[in-house]
Amino acid sequence: MSTRIAVFGTGYLGATHAACMAELGHEVLGVDVDAAKLEKLAAGEVPFYEPGLGEVLRNNIDRGRLKFTSSYEEAAEFADVFFLGVGTPQKKGEFAADMVYVDAVIETLAPLLTKPSVIFGKSTVPVGTAERLGKRARELAPIGDGVEVAWNPEFLREGFAVQDTLHPDRLVLGVDRNVRGRAESVAREVYAELLDEEIPFLVTDLATAELVKASANAFLATKISFINAISEVCEAAGADVTVLADAIGHDVRIGRRFLNAGIGFGGGCLPKDIRAFMARAGELGADQALTFLREVDNINMRRRTRMVELAREACGSLLGARVAVLGAAFKPDSDDVRDSPALNVAGQIQLQGAAVNVYDPKAMDNSRALFPTLTYSANALEACEGADVVLVLTEWLEFLKLQPSDLDSVVRNKVIVDGRNCLSPDDWRGAGWNYRGLGRP
Ligand code: UGA
Repeated sequence: MSTRIAVFGTGYLGATHAACMAELGHEVLGVDVDAAKLEKLAAGEVPFYEPGLGEVLRNNIDRGRLKFTSSYEEAAEFADVFFLGVGTPQKKGEFAADMVYVDAVIETLAPLLTKPSVIFGKSTVPVGTAERLGKRARELAPIGDGVEVAWNPEFLREGFAVQDTLHPDRLVLGVDRNVRGRAESVAREVYAELLDEEIPFLVTDLATAELVKASANAFLATKISFINAISEVCEAAGADVTVLADAIGHDVRIGRRFLNAGIGFGGGCLPKDIRAFMARAGELGADQALTFLREVDNINMRRRTRMVELAREACGSLLGARVAVLGAAFKPDSDDVRDSPALNVAGQIQLQGAAVNVYDPKAMDNSRALFPTLTYSANALEACEGADVVLVLTEWLEFLKLQPSDLDSVVRNKVIVDGRNCLSPDDWRGAGWNYRGLGRP
């Protein structure tokens, strides 16, 4: 059955969700306050790099199932199912998440709701937000108690956004136990195709659903920092963290995924989400419970510093050195540079007096906008020209395929530091290069 849906926010989460809901056969309106973004999307252009999303977007625009607007009136008129997918960035100078965008959607939308409506929150929010928004929406809406707020957290990864939305590991829905509402039955209609595939569907209270999301990201961040902490011990002991990760990863209770040691996690989610989680636990009087996340954060940030040290060791001194940086995105298959470890390292090295040439297959424009003072090269070889050291900071396939012979005659010194442990030390050393990894002898 086709449902009329409006999705608020057309960033990573919202644009993907809107396109994928249309793909499931629903009639969808994407809503944003950013006119430039809407114009692009309506023309079938994805404003960021996400494999496969453009196709889903264009197919559904062509079928007439997906449209975009900046008008909340139009959205309230059109739909009775609403998804909220706006950003919850870190507040400036604080750990807590900034709720201004989430709150603005409810403040603007609720007064326009004159028919029974369900609002599904998807953004990552501090626990307690959904209940607060539900109360506020009922206060503001002409239909009053006819508005229900439920929480349906999103677990999509950048680079796999379409696949993760259409074939998620699980669906989680938090419903307001104090309201005898329709949220669960509406969600079952919206996601009918996924439920037919027997994707696990967990219905909880609001607080649990909010905490599921925060805990999932906290666990992933902890797993990465765990292996990076072990990688520090490996460095001190002359052991190899990559072999160690393979070995412990064979234990299914541990698992090999997310045990890749390197310069650590970044992006628009994990760093800010663990901080917001700590801040919220503090507000609730459970701050001791999450103090370990501060250490998770510290371990992660230390890896960036370690990478700068390795670059300095490789050059003798960073003053006047030429440093090639391969990779600027926070991970491969993404053009996202928000809190990118790669760009952070590149910036630190430059500020310490080196000339840094950066190349990334997709993130050049975003990098330039964030760090205009770095030098950007048109390709990997150009970035490596005359380099005293080559740093691989994002594990793009293109860099994994680089052969030592491609760079032999390009660089000044045959020194490579592998910030993602993604290259073969034997290949590079065998070709006469000085290879350094993180947490490897
Ligand atoms: C993360 C979560 O994985 C998603 O489940 C979640 O929905 C999303 O945040 C979100 O909250 O929106 P994402 O930010 O796309 O997804 O990126 P990840 O694939 O989790 O990678 C995060 C960072 O960890 C990257 O910088 C990556 O390079 C790093 N990483 C990952 C490692 O350093 N080692 C690993 O083994 C894995």
